[in-house]
Amino acid sequence: MTDTTSAANRAMHAFVERPALMLRAENVRKTFTLHGQGGIGIEALAGVSLEVERGECVVLVGPSGAGKSTLLRCLYGNYLASGGSIAIRDDDTALQHLEITCAAPHDVLRLRRNVVGYVSQFLRVIPRVATRDLVAAPLVARGVAQDEAYARAETLLARLNVPQRLWPLAPATFSGGEQQRVNIARGLIAQHRVLLLDEPTASLDAENREAVSQLIVEAREHGAAIVGVFHDEDTRERVATRRMPLAAARTQTPLGEAA
Ligand SMILES: Nc1ncnc2c1ncn2[C@@H]1O[C@H](COP(=O)(O)OP(=O)(O)OP(=O)(O)O)[C@@H](O)[C@H]1O
Ligand SMILES: [Mg+2]
Repeated sequence: MTDTTSAANRAMHAFVERPALMLRAENVRKTFTLHGQGGIGIEALAGVSLEVERGECVVLVGPSGAGKSTLLRCLYGNYLASGGSIAIRDDDTALQHLEITCAAPHDVLRLRRNVVGYVSQFLRVIPRVATRDLVAAPLVARGVAQDEAYARAETLLARLNVPQRLWPLAPATFSGGEQQRVNIARGLIAQHRVLLLDEPTASLDAENREAVSQLIVEAREHGAAIVGVFHDEDTRERVATRRMPLAAARTQTPLGEAA
């Protein structure tokens, strides 16, 4: 039996036998090849394994360049892992999980709509789309009525101290911290069962960090499985149920030897 097949079997058993298991990564590797720079390889992830159940918040820790963002992007399917298995619970499939590393694009999109949310440090501003619509969009995409989606968006924006006068405006001109709070509201509104958070509080003051931490803790207590990176210790302390260290990335020569 090949390594891939046995990893697939282990994933299948894990999701059937453990109803609380939401995300399972096994031996994930990611190497970037810098073609413009002599084919040098950067081994950003050298075999990372992780299991996350409902109600857990795993905080990734490690120095800058350790691969924290890379791991979150692989888990979301933005980066294709160079090796290993990444499976996320997907009750719409016969096997009750989706293997992200070889899933069809439409399955990944469905999983993102229904199961996995991702919040990065920066908002992707869509020109001329009002803040309220931007935040409500993930619910509208799921078929929730516009009024209900707006009401939920407004509740979240208010909790995140985004002034009401900004709700009808497009966030292109907002401050960094205002944009980040709009981004968090958009990321949390659909109450995804799996949440991937990459420094969502990086440009916030203490009061707003606290508001965000509170929302993350509530999501966790409602059963979300969370993997996150947080730049300040107070937030880590507040939200983490567990920490996972990642080691610094290694540079390889073009021949593939570790430098
Ligand atoms: N798209 C890419 N192309 C090439 N190299 C990349 C790419 N993305 C990340 N890397 C490299 O992979 C390594 C890990 O980067 P990553 O952004 O995951 O680190 P990080 O732990 O999130 O760091 P930070 O704490 O600074 O955000 C770094 O050496 C980085 O240069
Ligand atoms: Mg990062």
